[in-house]
Amino acid sequence: MTIVNENFALLSESYLFSEIAERVRRFHESTNSDDIIRLGIGDVTQPLCPAAIEAMHRAVDDMASSTTFHGYGPEQGYQFLRDAISQNDYRARGIDIASDEIFVSDGAKSDTGNIGDIFDICNSVAMTDPVYPVYVDTNVMSGRAGANVSGRWQNIEMMPCTFDNGFIPELPKSNPALIYLCFPNNPTGTVLTKSQLKPFVDYALEHKSIILFDSAYEAFITEDDVPHSIFEIEGAKKCAIEFRSYSKTAGFTGIRCGYTVVPRELIAYGRNGEQYELNKLWKRRQCTKFNGASYISQRGAESIYSEEGKKQVKSTIDYYLRNAKILLEGCQSIGLQATGGINSPYVWISSNRGVSSWQLFDLLLNECHLVGTPGVGFGPSGEGCFRLTAFNTYEKTIEAVNRLKRVSI
Ligand code: MLT
Repeated sequence: MTIVNENFALLSESYLFSEIAERVRRFHESTNSDDIIRLGIGDVTQPLCPAAIEAMHRAVDDMASSTTFHGYGPEQGYQFLRDAISQNDYRARGIDIASDEIFVSDGAKSDTGNIGDIFDICNSVAMTDPVYPVYVDTNVMSGRAGANVSGRWQNIEMMPCTFDNGFIPELPKSNPALIYLCFPNNPTGTVLTKSQLKPFVDYALEHKSIILFDSAYEAFITEDDVPHSIFEIEGAKKCAIEFRSYSKTAGFTGIRCGYTVVPRELIAYGRNGEQYELNKLWKRRQCTKFNGASYISQRGAESIYSEEGKKQVKSTIDYYLRNAKILLEGCQSIGLQATGGINSPYVWISSNRGVSSWQLFDLLLNECHLVGTPGVGFGPSGEGCFRLTAFNTYEKTIEAVNRLKRVSI
């Protein structure tokens, strides 16, 4: 008899975005409506920038000749991309991250999910609430989350981020070993300034915890005092791992490429207090379970660091930020509590009528043919809230706001 990993039985039936896609599919089937506006999953709509297209065409040509063909690449990523990341995303900002601290991957979703492999399941965890569901689900799958008692995971401390506390989480109270932070935040679109992030770094240093910092949305930062990287905070190289993605930065949701930074000086402990370098552990994990992102996608990623690539990527980010502003101001203009959208492609709203997140979802789908993401799907503190993304087109974003103005939410 084969025994399954029964932790999977603890998970909700489907992953949040699969559940939404299924509900929208059923709605579409029953209504045949072709005017559904999708502001749900954060998937991009604008084409890749010309620099990336040209670089990937050249990379395909490389594959056509035996002299330039690439088979298995280095599991940690090609040196050309790791050097470009080190130089442009870190050293240009005065942050000392070397290329051997960078691990290229197929995206931040996989890495934030897989990072748990290098930590014992006895570690307790803290994360903001609401939160990107991958952090919770992968800790449930491994057994680290523990039992679910009255809707709360025994071994996960949730740190509420709400309109009431200005979306600034309090420091954890349970002395967690692992602390997940995502800023600019998915789903709320809010940020921490450097001085608001620093106490988390100080806390982690004091308690010998590790911060898992998801910085997938850093390209959307417009305000000066918002850190693009946790390594802008003194001491973070001793207590943090950072995840980045080209999905939102460069429209790579369908191409797949991202990276994780594991500083060489970052250590954690064995049960008897032995010290382990996490950079070596992650390298060992990746070499065993991952064969690297494709050569073509890595050439595409490299191209966004060229002068042309930088300008082109910025212009697409600005396009989405304009949509975000339209959503934010549109929601505020009809009296909704709304946040995000300034340093982020996400706008987070709260219903004035005390309806639940899923009721809001149904209402907007049925009455406006508008898809968003129910806040409660990201955690209990998201109940009554709703996330809208700025990743659709300008025209559809305008139309979405017009539709919102016609209903009472
Ligand atoms: C989201 O909508 O939260 C993201 O697109 C999900 C992801 O990046 O996997």
